[in-house]
Amino acid sequence: MKKLARDGVEELVPYPPGKPIEELERELGISGSIKLASNENPLGTSPMAVQAIMEKVHTLHRYPDGSGYYLKTKLSETYGVPFDQIILGNGSNELIELITRTFLSPGEHVIQAFPTFLVYEKMVRGAGGRMSSIPLSDFKVDLKEISKAITPETKIIFICNPNNPTGSAILKEDMRGFLNEIPDDIVVVLDEAYIEFASDKAVARGLELLNEHPLLVVLRTFSKLYGLAGLRIGYGFGSSNLVDYMNRVRQPFNANALAQAAATAALDDLAFVNRTQRVVREGLSYLYQSLEDMGLEYIRSQTNFFLIKVPMGGERVYELMLKEGVIVRSMVSYDLPDYIRINAGLREENERFVETLKKVLNL
Ligand SMILES: Cc1ncc(COP(=O)(O)O)c(C=O)c1O
Repeated sequence: MKKLARDGVEELVPYPPGKPIEELERELGISGSIKLASNENPLGTSPMAVQAIMEKVHTLHRYPDGSGYYLKTKLSETYGVPFDQIILGNGSNELIELITRTFLSPGEHVIQAFPTFLVYEKMVRGAGGRMSSIPLSDFKVDLKEISKAITPETKIIFICNPNNPTGSAILKEDMRGFLNEIPDDIVVVLDEAYIEFASDKAVARGLELLNEHPLLVVLRTFSKLYGLAGLRIGYGFGSSNLVDYMNRVRQPFNANALAQAAATAALDDLAFVNRTQRVVREGLSYLYQSLEDMGLEYIRSQTNFFLIKVPMGGERVYELMLKEGVIVRSMVSYDLPDYIRINAGLREENERFVETLKKVLNL
């Protein structure tokens, strides 16, 4: 008898998403919970994006613009990247999948750091590729070891910068040196989902490297900084050659109409962007200080989230905090069982997190 699922699917496990607030409240019959588990924007959605959605909602009987003209034009103006070097996706998650479906043949080799964003491996294995995971060194992506792992079969390298879940970032010179040594038949994907939160100017920015490396793809998202995670819209920059191939494989209407309108408007919402960056910065410093006062170890981050080492193990703390209506992320599936990951929330959410953590740890 033929196997039902294609090769490799049997071994995959579903992506473990952060628990939705509604689900927790339904299960426990409680209200007033907070969620700091999915690196979302605590301020909500860009008001300019919301306005654009309201206006667009009346035209939903029409298909979206499959070329993404207005959003790509706006991205092109904002970032100085030519129109034909931009691709849109149903979240940057879709672009990760599109990259594997466009460039990876079954059996080809891919490299990532580990722990990193779990979706790379999932997509690669789903496409029949082989993934090598190179351990982080002191919670940082180890570019030297990644270089050493390259073989003649290597087709794609995924680098998450700053890295999820550690929040560590690669510096400009290190990234440049690494890219200069990569064979010129390997697609390098720089996932910059959190780059707008990186406060250190020395952190590498893919945009500055785009013209130097024809096989570089830079991925960005509207989910975090602009608060559009629920709408699903991300984008990528790459050479026109790479983008052309990806356009051949992608679904014709992969970026929906509301998402395109919202994202186009959000790019102009500098007040919301500034407010978000400030809330994250202030939130992180409050949380760092509180953890230091509690004598807990944490990893400083260039993103809107960070790791905390917890005495009784991350899964247990996750469960105990859940009962108190505070959703954090256990790091078991990232092979960091002693850690939880949280994102910076609003001031009152951060305070509630600290109080609840003290309670569950008996501090
Ligand atoms: C590193 C990283 N890349 C990509 C994504 C996906 O973002 P999107 O919502 O655009 O699909 C996330 C979301 O959590 C992420 O952490």
